[in-house]
Formats: sequence, C-alpha cells, structure tokens
Amino acid sequence: MSFNAIVIEEVEGKARASVKQLEVKDLPDNDVLVDIAYSTINFKDGLALAGNKSKIARKLPMVGGIDLAGTVAESKSPAFKPGDKVLVNGYGLSEAHWGGYTQKQRVKSEWLVRLPAAFSARQAMAVGTAGYTAMLCVLALEDYGIKPDGREILVTGAAGGVGSVAIALLAKLGYKVVASTGRPETHDYLKGLGAAECIDRATLSEKGAPLAKERWAGAVDSVGSQTLATVLGQVAYGGAVAACGLAAGADLPATVLPFILRGVALLGVDSVNAPMQKRQRAWDRLAKDLDAKKLDAMTEIVPLAKAIELAPKILAGQVKGRIVVDVNA
Ligand SMILES: NC(=O)c1ccc[n+]([C@@H]2O[C@H](COP(=O)([O-])OP(=O)(O)OC[C@H]3O[C@@H](n4cnc5c(N)ncnc54)[C@H](OP(=O)(O)O)[C@@H]3O)[C@@H](O)[C@H]2O)c1
Repeated sequence: MSFNAIVIEEVEGKARASVKQLEVKDLPDNDVLVDIAYSTINFKDGLALAGNKSKIARKLPMVGGIDLAGTVAESKSPAFKPGDKVLVNGYGLSEAHWGGYTQKQRVKSEWLVRLPAAFSARQAMAVGTAGYTAMLCVLALEDYGIKPDGREILVTGAAGGVGSVAIALLAKLGYKVVASTGRPETHDYLKGLGAAECIDRATLSEKGAPLAKERWAGAVDSVGSQTLATVLGQVAYGGAVAACGLAAGADLPATVLPFILRGVALLGVDSVNAPMQKRQRAWDRLAKDLDAKKLDAMTEIVPLAKAIELAPKILAGQVKGRIVVDVNA
C-alpha cells in the first residue's frame, strides 16, 4: 500500500520538494518501522525544502523532515516493540538519512527516544528540534551556574521556534527574561510566554562596543553573526551565552575582550549529534518544565503539503513559534 511523503529530488539541475507516493519497500533498511503521526518545521527544514539551501540534504532523493513522532509498527531491535510511542530529533534525518515528512519511515533503533508520558506525539513535535535545542541551551546555562537571581537573561530570535520555547522554559524556572525580536506585533505573544520585557533586535544587530555596559547574566542566542558579537559585549562579568543558531548568519565578528576581561563563556549547543543521555535528560526536563498551555499557544498545525509552502517563510523569519506537520492530513 502506498503512502504520502515529501521527497526532495533534483529536477533540471535544481532541488525541488513535492509530495510523492512511496511504499514500504522504498524505505531504507533500518531496524525499526515507525507509523508517523506528526513531524514539524524547523529552520533547517526550511533550508532543505526551499531548494536544499546550504546543501542540507547531502544526497538526493531525500525524504525531508529532521523530526518525527509516532508508533513503532515493526522492530528488529529487542529495545522496541510494536505499539511503543517514540520520537526522533536530528541524527542526520533529512541530511544523510530519510526523515519524518512521511506517513511511514524506517529508522535506526539507537536514534529513538521514548515519547515522555507528559506529551502526546503532537505536543512532542510542537517541541521538536527547536524546543529540544532550547532546553539544551537552558541546561547549558544551568550547568554553567547561571541561576534565577533576578538579573536579566536575554533570548534572541525570540518569536522563532527556539526563542519561543526558551522564553517559556526560562520564565517557568524563575528567570527574568528579556526577549529580542524584530516583530513588535509579537510583544503580547512573547509576554504571554513569560517575557518580562521585549527589546528591538535592531539594537543588537548593530555593531556594539567590545565591552559595553554589563546587562545580561546570560543569554540564549539563535541568531549568530553581529547579534551574538554585540550580545557578548553586554554580558555581565562571569556570565554565559548559549549559542545554537545562525538565523542572521554564520559569521561572528567579535573580539576576545569579553572572554579575557569579564570571564564570559560562549557555550556551543548542538542538537543533531547530541548523545542519547543528553537527549533523554533534555526530554525529561521538557516534560517537567515546559508549560503545556504555553506550548499550545505557540503552535500551529498544518497538513503535510503545506510544509513546502511554509519553507520560505521560516527562512524569512515570518513564522511565529512552532509549526507541527500532520503527515496524515
Ligand atoms: N544548534 C542546533 O542544533 C540547532 C537546533 C535548532 C535550531 N538551530 C538554529 O537556530 C536558529 C533558529 O531556529 P528556529 O527553528 O527557531 O528558526 P525560526 O523559527 O525561523 O526562528 C529564528 C528567529 O530569528 C530571528 N531572525 C531571523 N532572521 C534574522 C535576522 N536576519 N537577524 C536577526 N534575527 C533574525 C527571528 O525572530 P524575531 O522575529 O523574533 O526577531 C526568527 O523568528 C536557526 O539558525 C537554526 O538553524 C540550531
């Protein structure tokens, strides 16, 4: 029986994404077959779907979707059995391996995380890679010793996926969160997630002094480039920035002065190849510390084909919060 999948393939020398019919025999030879319920759209999915920018999919044809959640249908692994609820984030889905924009996929058992009891498959994909990365950023700040002590924590790219979840998490944990956004119309939304104040991202995307007035106890940055450089110059003595993104660019036009004169730390965060123990820790904490009502407030659900239409929008920074993809609609 055939089923729907978004396949990125080369057409007249260009990468093009479209909904195709696949059969189970077309799927890769991995040890667990998953009936997928939901996937999601992350920034990287936007790159892959909109012409495979930055060559996200390293070989074509590729089934897109860096995340998936669903139910095990068949398993050659003793660790999983039919009926188990599972999810996958990253691990090269949509890059080196076929991903989650499909009704069925075969994946490696070692990539699977058991769906936390606190979440439905839809909620897990509302979290998705963006939300799980936001949790990794919060854990990085916590592990570094940044505590909720009344000083301000900055979140850049605030109205995006990583930013929205980071704000909800930090606010619930008692941090005073300042949201940096380029969209004034999202201020009420961001305050609803728990931001104490919103600032215009233009104030951070301009070149700042290498050592400016000390303001932030810590920061979660999904923007990179000049924004990250300017933020580093504003971090208070002993503070830290968890850096996970490049929405504005992959460059970092900074000086070493914040590091060597204020002991500021730049904490790199990767979600794709994070070891299973770290993933499990992040999902356990998401189950405990992410407010379900706030998650619902930041989530929109779209049918499979709509993911292709939304790809340029997430790249243009026009998507608010998180988008869940119902692969069976
Ligand atoms: N390290 C990892 O493992 C990992 C995992 C997930 C995501 N990421 C990266 O994190 C970034 C955010 O991902 P996402 O899924 O949250 O994407 P997203 O939903 O598109 O959010 C990005 C946000 O950044 C802001 N932004 C966009 N373009 C900008 C620009 N030119 N200058 C300043 N701000 C800009 C916008 O927020 P405002 O409208 O509020 O300003 C936008 O909503 C991406 O670069 C993604 O690749 C990395």
